[in-house]
Amino acid sequence: MSGLRQVKIEAGAEQALRGFRLPEKLGFGVIMVPVMYVAECVDGVWGQGRLQPYGPIQLDPSAKVLHYAQEYFEGMKAYKVEGPHATLFRPERHVARFATSGRRLCMPEVPEEVFMEGVCTITAWAEPFIPGNTCQSLYLRPFVIGTQPNLGLGVSSTNTFIVIASPSEAYHAGSMRVLVERNDTRAAIGGTGAVKVGGNYAASLLSASRAKSKGYDQSLWLDPGTRSSIEELSGMNVFAVIDGRLHTPKLNGSILPGITRDSLIELARSLGHEVVEETMPIDALLTDIGNGRCSEAFASGTAAVVTPISVMADVDGTEYTLPQDPGPVALSLKEALLGIQEGRQEDPFGWVQRIPRTYYPSTAQVA
Ligand code: COI
Repeated sequence: MSGLRQVKIEAGAEQALRGFRLPEKLGFGVIMVPVMYVAECVDGVWGQGRLQPYGPIQLDPSAKVLHYAQEYFEGMKAYKVEGPHATLFRPERHVARFATSGRRLCMPEVPEEVFMEGVCTITAWAEPFIPGNTCQSLYLRPFVIGTQPNLGLGVSSTNTFIVIASPSEAYHAGSMRVLVERNDTRAAIGGTGAVKVGGNYAASLLSASRAKSKGYDQSLWLDPGTRSSIEELSGMNVFAVIDGRLHTPKLNGSILPGITRDSLIELARSLGHEVVEETMPIDALLTDIGNGRCSEAFASGTAAVVTPISVMADVDGTEYTLPQDPGPVALSLKEALLGIQEGRQEDPFGWVQRIPRTYYPSTAQVA
């Protein structure tokens, strides 16, 4: 890869953006801005990045991603609620986790300058379409796929990095009802649970659809070794307030290390809460909800932000209703986090970053 990179703005990208309008109803991950960033990596060498019109990509039917799930991704957001320009939240954390995911799948890591080029270019060009109400943002989905056409099981020699962007609302409206999954597990010990790869999410869907058919929103996963301790919710980490302290499962190699999780822990401590990161046995938690020691529970994630949990149900049908939904801790942490992300509040942690001017259309080269 050369030291100095310049994005190629392909014919049609500008025109696609000119004709684009945001619909009234956004939802989550449904509307895509009409451009995407693409860069290819061949035998470990990254080529020039391109901003091109959004559309279907060509893949050989034998491409390794289609057979052996050689794919990893990130979820992050650009905000434009208070100021005229877009900001990113802790992008360096997403760069680092993306690289960890790539290494775990033996796929090429995306170097920081390529990752930031992709994320900043699409955000800068799509800036007029970043929705401006609280809880709305431009959801960014960077991902890498193994494209080598070959059914042999092995490392793909060609890979493509793509960034797509979706003007979105929060993932979940209102509270969630979750069902404890006592049988299946989301991730194996020594497996891929702690990285963000598509296969983890594919393997969660059978349990999720069983939960949905019983009237719940999500499966609550337990540890793969003993199925006795809480892990996460596929796409969200879990918190509970017990005896006034904020508890969350400690990272153990199979829980995804959420960037929102980490931010909430830091924020909570700065607001004076005691935070306990320990193994959380499910039976003790259900008992504590039943006897009132657990006053509230909530999920956290980039897409979900902070989403209260109203009910935890066991497989035998017993429902444990959280006394406070939403609870004061969830509400205050959500407000504090969104305040920083959306630019209403000071950012003492240095989490929020402006998109450098060089990525904006006026300075980019139009091919
Ligand atoms: C995110 O929070 O960014 C995720 O990747 C979760 C996904 C299930 C929407």
